[in-house]
Amino acid sequence: MTDPIGLARGLTNYGDRDFALYLRRSFAKSMGYSAAMLAKPVIGIANTASGFNNCHRLVPELVDAVKRGVLAAGALPIDFPTISLGEVYLNPTSLMFRNLMALDTEEMIRAQPMDAVVLVGGCDKTVPAQLMGAASANVPAIQLVTGPMMTGPHRGERLGACTDCRRFWARFRAGEISRQEIDEVEGRLATTAGTCAVMGTASTMASLAEALGMMLPGTAAIPAVHADRLRAAEASGAAAVKLAQAKLTPDRIITQKSVENALRVLLAIGGSTNALLHLTAIAGRVGVDIPLKQLNALSDATPVLVDLKPTGPHYMEDLFAAGGIGAVLRELKPMLHLDCVTITGETLAQRLAESDGDYVDRKVVRPLDAPLQPQGGLVALFGSLAPRGALLKRSAADAKLFEREGRAVVFSSLEDLAKRIDDPALDVTPEDFLVLQNAGPTSASAMPEAGYLPIPGKLARAGIKDMVRISDARMSGTAYGTVVLHVTPDAASGGPLAKARSGDRIRMSVKERRLDLLVDPAELARREAPVAAAPPRGYARLYREQILQADHGCDFDFLRQAPLKG
Ligand code: FES
Repeated sequence: MTDPIGLARGLTNYGDRDFALYLRRSFAKSMGYSAAMLAKPVIGIANTASGFNNCHRLVPELVDAVKRGVLAAGALPIDFPTISLGEVYLNPTSLMFRNLMALDTEEMIRAQPMDAVVLVGGCDKTVPAQLMGAASANVPAIQLVTGPMMTGPHRGERLGACTDCRRFWARFRAGEISRQEIDEVEGRLATTAGTCAVMGTASTMASLAEALGMMLPGTAAIPAVHADRLRAAEASGAAAVKLAQAKLTPDRIITQKSVENALRVLLAIGGSTNALLHLTAIAGRVGVDIPLKQLNALSDATPVLVDLKPTGPHYMEDLFAAGGIGAVLRELKPMLHLDCVTITGETLAQRLAESDGDYVDRKVVRPLDAPLQPQGGLVALFGSLAPRGALLKRSAADAKLFEREGRAVVFSSLEDLAKRIDDPALDVTPEDFLVLQNAGPTSASAMPEAGYLPIPGKLARAGIKDMVRISDARMSGTAYGTVVLHVTPDAASGGPLAKARSGDRIRMSVKERRLDLLVDPAELARREAPVAAAPPRGYARLYREQILQADHGCDFDFLRQAPLKG
């Protein structure tokens, strides 16, 4: 007997399969479908349009284009809503809801009758959530992204969200630009639909989806408003029909090898620190771990090739014009596992063979033998302050600050930081290490992008641009500076970070991959551990009970393929 297809899949349980199918078709006919259409394979389209998500403003026309592709290839497209996460609209932080969106996506793919699904996402947490959900549902799936914003002009330079948001805000804080100019900039940072225009988390995740093989070749970097974006959507719809016929499921595409390929790309593009969390969570859904020591080994052997903001001068629209992620993959070819299968059914070797000879702008994508930096953008540090690791985006940091010992200036929470950072009486010098506690995954603030601590007001006004900053928080992929993140275990779970006090000495050595709190263990033992807050209700309670630390991608334990506590 052949497997059921389309509407005959996953019937509602009435104890009578024929009745369930008859009833389903009958209700579907109320939407005006013919019997012939209802007999076709169904391609689901995860529709994440939301008034609270500017990055997804053009999702409706992408969904229309996907439908066109599906129909032309002989299947029935049906879109369905899922949660949408607009980065700047969520409290306390979008990361808290990534797993909720992953759960929603997984269950709606599994519960509804579809032979394959096109995942339309874009903003930071949406692509990882969709890939996590699709990996767990294990129905054939294609990722389609909304694409990056275009840049806009401001007084003779180009602006793009959101590295320039931070750059101008820092200049405003330092008194270098006026209130009038910052108000002008506010209206010029995000001038089109699409995701942030730099190599932030959204662009990094789009690039990794292509590197994993879960997205059509050449589609990660197409700008949101470019007509090619709609053609990519149409092609994704058509490809989903073939994918359904081939029954090529995510577990055959997201593998140990393709995850390693994606890690290489993450390092070579100088990608977002957040993306490591997300890739770890996606990989955990298919039983693949990413030890931070593996990251260091790959980072030592993978050069940075792409020169985009936040570290370089270019934007995603430049990467698109320069050759896109295909150009990066071709440079990395000697380091990649070329036998990985992609959603087209081709191997990576076949994909790259077809693309050979394409134009590459070498200002944006450097050749392997003349890289921007000889080593990868991310490095993990370990030591008495971070026994399970911490992360530094060295490509966005000041190497002069890498081998240092400094005095800690500790802020116990985000509230404490906000209250004291600009206090003229704050005892701080440019040589000190700013330390933020209780901003990790198990804290009430749910790991916000607060690791990019502002330079204290009085130092900023004196011209200080960078200091060593250490926390259990995350950092926006669009930010830069000598910022040590994801200290694990986090302070709220009782990690050593919780016991740091102002005046302690901390030693950082990027060369030795070390981060140590230079306090006598007996003294540390005397210091109090935090008291866990009472569990809240609802989703926040599920989050508190199930959230894993950064080294496990902040997934929920029960959603991993192999739960750690189970
Ligand atoms: Fe959506 Fe930056 S706010 S990608």
